[in-house]
Amino acid sequence: MSTITIQKVNFKVFRFNNIDDYLPYYESYTLDVTSEDVVLDILNKIKWEHDGSFSYRRSCRHGICGACAIKVNGRSTLACKESMSTMIEYFGTDLTIEPLSTKRAIKDLIIDKSDFWEKHESVKPYVNAKIDETPSCENLISPEDADALNEADLCIQCGSCHYACPVTEINDDFFGPAAFVSAYRFEADVRDEDSDRLIAVNDEKQGVWDCVKCFECAEVCPKDINPIEKITSLHQMAFQRGVAKNNVATRHAVGFKDSIVRNGVLDEGGLVLYSEGPSIIKHIPVALKMFKHGKIVPPWAIVKSDNIGEIKILAQSSSTAKF
Ligand code: SF4
Ligand code: SF4
Ligand code: FES
Repeated sequence: MSTITIQKVNFKVFRFNNIDDYLPYYESYTLDVTSEDVVLDILNKIKWEHDGSFSYRRSCRHGICGACAIKVNGRSTLACKESMSTMIEYFGTDLTIEPLSTKRAIKDLIIDKSDFWEKHESVKPYVNAKIDETPSCENLISPEDADALNEADLCIQCGSCHYACPVTEINDDFFGPAAFVSAYRFEADVRDEDSDRLIAVNDEKQGVWDCVKCFECAEVCPKDINPIEKITSLHQMAFQRGVAKNNVATRHAVGFKDSIVRNGVLDEGGLVLYSEGPSIIKHIPVALKMFKHGKIVPPWAIVKSDNIGEIKILAQSSSTAKF
């Protein structure tokens, strides 16, 4: 029989009311936390026992709706699913609780989600096909073709991944992971005939190439959809369908593969040179520092992998990164 333990934890909680407050502030609480508590229990404790005006979203309490997504010490999490023991194990007993996106805060942890729907609409989230207006039967697809959607159709548009994304927070043009999941869902649909959607999600600033692969979106998704996997598939589709443009982001993908094929390991310096071309000059101060600390080596000093033959076959058979 497991014993319930109790310990004191210091919380700094983001507070803001966009009607009364000019700036947000942080309220401190020291609370008893049991080994059975999830983060949502702490939010409830603050609201029910300390300040009834404290506001946050929650709905299912079973980790399936995404309503309760917040940040704990900068890490995106579903409050009703994340155990406090895990948070204490990761971060210790000083925890900061914030909304997913502080700049969109309306009331404490509640954020304005309106731009989510604008981005969602931008990728034309529907099957675009010429079909008979009065069909005599459903327009079915085979089980194999349905499998190609890779569960992207399970997205409930909760927006958790969108606001957990650090790129969405700083780049207002970026479509965001949820829009990319929708774009993938319809690009992978054999009935779809739209040729503009993939072009749109490949544009610089708004498209998939600005994702920094931090996996925050995958961490917070209540449906385990793994948006980053769909983003990678959109990268591949862009090369396969000839949509990828020759720019710094796509050259990065091509250069990465070429480096692995050539050496079996990544040539960091060569990759930057390949991706950036002449504008590499701006990176020289950083490159010198990296060189000094052994983070990059000159091309002639790269030690090739012992399994280079095998790696070459694997990289060439699996990669789509080419122009
Ligand atoms: S992996 Fe990409 S899309 Fe997902 S949260 Fe990070 S930057 Fe955003
Ligand atoms: S991918 Fe997941 S987190 Fe993102 S909107 Fe869909 S269900 Fe929510
Ligand atoms: S309340 Fe639904 S996921 Fe937490």
